[in-house]
Amino acid sequence: MRKLIAANWKMHGDMSWAAKVDTLVDLIGDDTAHPNVEVLICPPAHLIPSMSDRAEGKDIHIGAQNCHFAESGAYTGEMSADMCANAGADHIITGHSERREMFGDTNDVVHRKAEAIYSSGVIAIICIGESLQQRESGQAEAVIAKQLSESVPDSATSMNTVIAYEPIWAIGTGITPTLNDISDMHGFIRKNLTERFGARTADNIALQYGGSVKPANAKDILALPNVDGALVGGASLEMSSFAKIVQAAG
Ligand code: PGA
Repeated sequence: MRKLIAANWKMHGDMSWAAKVDTLVDLIGDDTAHPNVEVLICPPAHLIPSMSDRAEGKDIHIGAQNCHFAESGAYTGEMSADMCANAGADHIITGHSERREMFGDTNDVVHRKAEAIYSSGVIAIICIGESLQQRESGQAEAVIAKQLSESVPDSATSMNTVIAYEPIWAIGTGITPTLNDISDMHGFIRKNLTERFGARTADNIALQYGGSVKPANAKDILALPNVDGALVGGASLEMSSFAKIVQAAG
């Protein structure tokens, strides 16, 4: 499977940032230069239409960072999955720990959002991850198993779902788990998905790692078994460093 290298810009970027699509293409070349890597940028919502226009024909995907689970309605400030798709997103992140922690996105909410994303014909990147306290008290696998069972819908397939494992304590901190710990957790997630969906589906669901991925550690992390890509925050804001991560993948 191609490695999926995704940028999560979070709440960064004015309209001039749309041009970063062209900057990135200049740095990484077209898909013939990185045939084993799929590249995705998830900017804040106001940038999705202009970036997806610029990305047309360039083998760069544009995604959204969140959506509401309803199709439409009186939800001031929200955007539906259909609206994200209509704006040009072909992936939508859901269940990022910042949303789980700050905006009340429970497993149930993430599950409903994932179903809405499937209905819109968009790929859901469902994020899961334990806190430091949960890891230190030996509960990491139990937390991940619960998030998988409650956040990932039964209708998940390798075509509509990507799972991003992002330990909360590694996000934006510069700290990463050891390579062994990443490998163990990705193996655990694959096993869990295999028990639920069967090997044919589970083997083809991309499992991304996220949390302080940068040019210096990307190659080692992306070489681990069961690591099919990366979700990159801070190091994706500058195209020079994001390009290095794309190149490390492929
Ligand atoms: P980070 O963020 O790369 O800045 O740690 C990752 C994420 O939140 O997806």
